[in-house]
Amino acid sequence: MINELIIPKPDDMHLHLREGGMLKVVSQHSASQFGRAIVMPNLKKPVTNTELAHEYYDDIKIHTKGYDFEPLMTIYFNENLTLEELKKIQASSRVVGIKLYPKGVTTNSNMGVGSFESGYKIFEMMEKLDVPLLIHGEVNDSKVDIFDREKIFIEKYLIRAHKEFPNLRIVLEHISTKDATEFVRESSSKIAASITPQHLLYNRNELFLGGLKPHAFCLPVLKREEHRVAVLDAAISGNSKFFLGTDSAPHKRSEKESNCGCAGIYSALNAMEIYAEIFDRNNAIEKLENFSSKFGADFYKLSQSKNKIKLLRANNKIPNNIKVDNDTIVPLMAGQEIGWNCCDI
Ligand code: DOR
Ligand code: ZN
Repeated sequence: MINELIIPKPDDMHLHLREGGMLKVVSQHSASQFGRAIVMPNLKKPVTNTELAHEYYDDIKIHTKGYDFEPLMTIYFNENLTLEELKKIQASSRVVGIKLYPKGVTTNSNMGVGSFESGYKIFEMMEKLDVPLLIHGEVNDSKVDIFDREKIFIEKYLIRAHKEFPNLRIVLEHISTKDATEFVRESSSKIAASITPQHLLYNRNELFLGGLKPHAFCLPVLKREEHRVAVLDAAISGNSKFFLGTDSAPHKRSEKESNCGCAGIYSALNAMEIYAEIFDRNNAIEKLENFSSKFGADFYKLSQSKNKIKLLRANNKIPNNIKVDNDTIVPLMAGQEIGWNCCDI
């Protein structure tokens, strides 16, 4: 039995850090577990160009001073991305890609693209410059059943875009369906996917377990058990197209437990312990290292960290809540006992 795991410092390839008091708290949680994280640009005022990304980078660095932590910035896909701006993005060592949100699909996405095809001119330039495209892969058509929005997005848009731009590197973020695992597996090496802990742990019953559970609500929404199993199989398969991205997305408790609860699950504080717990429960703890420290870095053409973290088999209780400003965040698996601890070396 493996009781201890020493692995290169992992990368969180999909993270929300927010701003202000929230940024101060949550950035340090990520920095204590991860060496790098790809930071999402969906702030209230989205990060739409390199200059704003560099300002946000500096803010994050201030809050994570003293940690060995490098934020990898993303730009919010928008129709004003000129060739000149794309060249700046490509040249910046701090920016790793462009994140596309179909308009209205999730938190702060109302500046997203109305029609996917309207992005084609920009995709073409990104392909030439080898700038990765990170996609929230759900259709924003309110007539489409919410549980089918990822599948329909793949069928209607992604397959075609991949054909039109075969050399464009695309990450299908936070995959939640069997359909997504199949698409990624069957596509070329230019296509990869990030996987969250919640989509590995839960099926959609979790949303209604003993009542309506706002803290289990995220987008893409949790799916049926067969989808959870398919995403889990992909994560523990050792296939380098699937890698860690927590999609840790903090919202204050008062905003989750309200008439219109925000989508997003917070996992950054205990992310590596929770992934270790999941891999271990599924007899795949030895697959965790590549999933969290290698495959994502390889896809983004980054070198693996030389620093290490240690994960130890030991009882660990996830806190019930975390204080932020005058409120709290309720984390993933709040109050539950797990069998792994992170991260002293
Ligand atoms: O659940 C989610 N929360 N999904 C997203 O795509 C965005 C995120 C957020 O920013 O809160
Ligand atoms: Zn996200």
